Amino acid sequence: MTQDELKALVGQAALQYVVPGELVGVGTGSTVNHFIDALATMKHRIKGAVSSSHASTLRLQAHGIHVFEAAEVKRLPVYVDGADEIDGRGFMVKGGGAALTREKIVADLAERFVCIADASKRVEVLGAFALPVEVITMAAHQLERRFTALGGTATLRRRADGAPVLTDNGHPLLDVQGLRIADPLAMEAEINQWPGVVTVGLFARHRASLCLLGTPEGVQTLVF
Ligand code: A5P
Repeated sequence: MTQDELKALVGQAALQYVVPGELVGVGTGSTVNHFIDALATMKHRIKGAVSSSHASTLRLQAHGIHVFEAAEVKRLPVYVDGADEIDGRGFMVKGGGAALTREKIVADLAERFVCIADASKRVEVLGAFALPVEVITMAAHQLERRFTALGGTATLRRRADGAPVLTDNGHPLLDVQGLRIADPLAMEAEINQWPGVVTVGLFARHRASLCLLGTPEGVQTLVF
C-alpha cells in the first residue's frame, strides 16, 4: 500500500469515534483531508465541525459540513488530527502544516484526541522531525539562540520564493532540528516559558488518547 492509501485507511477508520448528533474537532493535513472526505458520508448525522485551519474549513464547507467557531463551543467529545511524529506514550510533534496553534486550541476543547497516522510517523523518541514553533517575529533571533543552547538548530520556515511562511494567525515559524525529546512534558513546559513563543508543536499535555496507525497489515489501534 502507498503512504496515501494508509492515510486514507486511518481517515476512514476514525469515523467510528465520531459521536452522532455532536460536533467533531477536525485537524489539518493530508491525513485529515481523507478523514474530512470520509466524514462527508455521515454529515447528516453530526451537528458540524470545529476546524483547526483555513484549509480544513474550506474542505469541510465544500462537503456541506457546517463549521462552528471554536469560540462558540465549550466542549467537543472528540478531536481527530494527524501528527508528524508520535511516540509510544501518545506524545506528538505537530505543525508540519503550520496549523499547530489552532490545532492545540481545538484539541484543548476535546475530551479525546484521536491521532490518525501512517506507520512512518511512529517513532521511539521524538525529534527526528524538526520541531515546529510558532513565534512572534521580534523574538525570533533570541529564540534561535535559546534553541541552540538546548542543542538544536532553529531555522525560519520559508516559502519557495524565500518569504517567511506565516501561519493563519500571521506569525512566522521556526523549525528546530537536532533535538532528542526524551521528556516531552518537561520540554514543552520549558519552551512555553520563553517570551515570544506562541505555540510549540510538542503535544505533550495534549497528547493523543489513542492512535489509529495505518500499517500494511491494517489499522492498529494504540491506546495511551
Ligand atoms: C499540521 O500543522 C500538522 O500538525 C499535521 O497534523 C501534521 O503535519 C500531519 O500532516 P500529514 O497528515 O499531512 O502528514
